Amino acid sequence: MEIRRQEIMELLFARALAGEGMVKTNPLVAAGLVKDGELLELAAHRQFGGLHAEAALLNKYTGSLQGVELYCTLEPCVHQGKTAPCTERILKTDIEEVTFAHIDPHPRVQGRGMKKLLKAGLTVTTPVCRSQYRWLNRAYFYNQVAGLPWLEAKLALSVDGYIATESHHSQWLSGPESRHYTHLLRSRVDAVMVGAETVRRDNPSLTDRVTGRESQPGAIIVTTRPQTLSPSLTLLSERAAETTIVVPSQIEPALGEKLEESGVTLVRSELHDGRYRWTEVLPRLYRAGFGRILVEGGGGLVGDLISAQLLNELHLFNCGHVLGSGIRSARLSHKTEKVFNAPRFRLLEQHRFGEDIYIRRLSEQSLRRVGFNLTPHPRLRQRLTGVGFKG
Ligand SMILES: NC(=O)c1ccc[n+]([C@@H]2O[C@H](COP(=O)([O-])OP(=O)(O)OC[C@H]3O[C@@H](n4cnc5c(N)ncnc54)[C@H](OP(=O)(O)O)[C@@H]3O)[C@@H](O)[C@H]2O)c1
Repeated sequence: MEIRRQEIMELLFARALAGEGMVKTNPLVAAGLVKDGELLELAAHRQFGGLHAEAALLNKYTGSLQGVELYCTLEPCVHQGKTAPCTERILKTDIEEVTFAHIDPHPRVQGRGMKKLLKAGLTVTTPVCRSQYRWLNRAYFYNQVAGLPWLEAKLALSVDGYIATESHHSQWLSGPESRHYTHLLRSRVDAVMVGAETVRRDNPSLTDRVTGRESQPGAIIVTTRPQTLSPSLTLLSERAAETTIVVPSQIEPALGEKLEESGVTLVRSELHDGRYRWTEVLPRLYRAGFGRILVEGGGGLVGDLISAQLLNELHLFNCGHVLGSGIRSARLSHKTEKVFNAPRFRLLEQHRFGEDIYIRRLSEQSLRRVGFNLTPHPRLRQRLTGVGFKG
């Protein structure tokens, strides 16, 4: 029975991933109806503000619920949010057994959903595949603990560790398979964030042009000099409505108004010696609805976030060009004397993508910094085989 429970939960996990990049600061959740060990129906939370998985499932299934168990990846909610409490909806049905993977760490739930179900006489089983679900939903669990967005960075590196030539030429260090994979990475996040120099040099659009997701991830530009961003840049023209710019709180009012009139959203933050403090900027971005952000360079921005111990995951593409000099991949804003004191990222997996090697790493320091426990998915292995597109 325990094995069947885990198998069903894993089917739900796969379905929960349908919400990646769409549910923003909400969790990735799926729910299923099970009778005699067989899965009758399943549904997921698909969109921020949309129906919770349990409600979507109970709306969808029209058969009898006598003797049917409800499986959920996350504890059913008990509070009125953008939608009605799921526990109330469950208690209106004939369901007598509920199994879920993990307690909801949201301050308004934290076991209250479970208590309500138990008090009403239902049988509750939890946890099931708890650490696997924490990995899959790591952005949400981290958001709840840290009050910050989950940050991951993507960089394509030359053999000698540069991300562009001295004249800022970087297209393309990586091959088509790696670039395809980058679009998949974009499809999983709420926004892609870049330093202003990358925007000024490359005029990127930062869209996902591979998966056909319903809406594009947002774009975030970090700059202390918004006046240097030309209105003709793609992110300030075609994509203005989806672009957020981090600007100094002291921004000249006329410039602020002009930018906002163009459709972009401004997030204002204090400058300290001409720099932002990430511990001030990131909570603002989280409150603006960004739960998971992919940082696509450049080296100034990525290095700064590593120094601040706020970058959790790295996606590196080691490419075949040797540039000899150029823009360094991560310019830390601090110096390290001893190797053992250096920020360190644990190896999670590696793949061959055409002529490039993709390496994925996890920062245990950034997670420890906020007291967040996380075990990587057991199926993440250090592989170096074939070409594939699975994260
Ligand atoms: N190979 C790759 O994967 C890849 C990816 C991305 C970019 N690139 C290349 O990288 C180059 C640009 O990289 P870069 O390292 O020179 O610059 P960058 O990281 O793109 O941008 C640095 C700028 O971001 C802003 N910024 C970042 N952190 C800040 C903080 N804490 N406080 C205030 N402002 C902050 C500042 O903007 P202001 O100057 O406006 O104040 C700073 O000058 C380009 O040539 C691009 O083609 C390569």
